[in-house]
Amino acid sequence: MKIDIQKDCAGVDWTAVSEALKCVGMAYHEPDVHRRAFEASHTTVFVYHADRLIGFGRAISDGVYQAAIYDCAVLPEFQGKGIGTTIICELVTRLSADGIEWIGLIAERGSHGFYSRLGFKKMPNSIPMLKTFT
Ligand SMILES: CC(C)(COP(=O)(O)OP(=O)(O)OC[C@H]1O[C@@H](n2cnc3c(N)ncnc32)[C@H](O)[C@@H]1OP(=O)(O)O)[C@@H](O)C(=O)NCCC(=O)NCCS
Repeated sequence: MKIDIQKDCAGVDWTAVSEALKCVGMAYHEPDVHRRAFEASHTTVFVYHADRLIGFGRAISDGVYQAAIYDCAVLPEFQGKGIGTTIICELVTRLSADGIEWIGLIAERGSHGFYSRLGFKKMPNSIPMLKTFT
């Protein structure tokens, strides 16, 4: 399957991003919220097939030594075809090239296996903690 990889946010259909996140059961917001979040991110990846947005991901970072991956999703009909792997590898390659030493993420909905295959490990003696304002 031919795919095109876009590294910046130019021309992205943010409604499609919001709908894709909703479709795969991840947290989603109004399209403009996603635009702001992706545009403020350190590294972004968008994958297209026949001009259709089929997957994406982003990483925030201090730009020095640490980063975190968020909002990695692939439309259900395109899952299992290596698109998610392409997205994570693209993010990791570019972050690593920028000198980032470690990348964290929260593996949701049983996606541990997917991230384990890509070299991510559970953090020993660490518990994810969260404070919310809504
Ligand atoms: C998780 C997700 C991004 C993976 O993308 P994908 O394009 O389906 O993944 P790939 O095709 O690159 O899969 C690579 C390998 O991981 C495996 N894999 C994919 N999703 C998996 C999962 N949830 N658990 C375990 N293994 C998984 C695949 O079977 C494949 O193995 P193989 O190479 O032996 O065939 C995608 O399934 C998705 O969007 N899921 C819903 C949203 C989500 O959970 N996102 C992660 C939030 S942290």
